[in-house]
Amino acid sequence: MHLILFGAPGVGKGTQAKNISQKYGIPQISTGDMLRDAIKRGTELGKKAEAIIARGELVSDDIMLSLIKERVSQPDCKKGFVLDGFPRTLPQAKGLTVLFEEKRLPKPVCFEIIVPENVIIKRLTQRKICENCGAIYDPLNNPVPADKRCTKCGGRIITRQDDNVDTIHKRLQVYHEMTAPVRKYYEKQGSFYTINGNLSVEKVFNEIDSILKKIF
Ligand code: AP5
Ligand code: MG
Repeated sequence: MHLILFGAPGVGKGTQAKNISQKYGIPQISTGDMLRDAIKRGTELGKKAEAIIARGELVSDDIMLSLIKERVSQPDCKKGFVLDGFPRTLPQAKGLTVLFEEKRLPKPVCFEIIVPENVIIKRLTQRKICENCGAIYDPLNNPVPADKRCTKCGGRIITRQDDNVDTIHKRLQVYHEMTAPVRKYYEKQGSFYTINGNLSVEKVFNEIDSILKKIF
């Protein structure tokens, strides 16, 4: 099962990728989480990515493609994986196609999640995450506990450095300019589904899951 979750910042890619990963036993590959982890560990990649993420811009295609190449070669990806936040540009999408061909993987199934922009901004300004495991907290679905410690791992719950109004607007602008064209690329390949993300987390998951049950 090789899946791509595609969509603007805050549409719920991470939330749904976690649900799919749990139900189907395939890893969630979130390039955003991988970069945040590199920043936390102070690696060379982290040092390069930190300012770019804070500005709401994109890390270079070369870096992202080599990161993905390495990640999907790991043993836990044998049965498949769900990509969350990748590909985000046409060169990334084309590079992923080459990688799939090299590895003789089946064509990925792509889900585009759509949410109105005013809802996105509200969601992102209210979101908190665990700095250790990336668990997502928000007032509606998973409120932050009183001690501000992650209920899964005990890590510190923080606001993402790019979840402020100015950077959210910049991320949305970058999405429209650089990422939205990727939609057509996958639409043309077939196996492309549009999902209404402006429903409850459960309803959105059920919509995705009903399609997965038909395909796999
Ligand atoms: P990344 O971490 O991927 O950020 P993003 O694409 O901006 O997406 P988000 O993580 O903000 O949103 P999401 O869709 O995952 O929503 P979530 O489930 O959290 O990337 C960060 C940065 O890293 C980029 O800006 C870039 O700099 C760099 N980067 C990453 N990948 C890259 C790449 N491939 N190439 C180049 N650079 C890259 O949900 C949001 C909130 O809404 C949460 O609070 C959640 O609880 C809530 N929510 C979710 N679903 C619902 C629902 N159905 N109803 C109500 N609330 C909901
Ligand atoms: Mg995310």
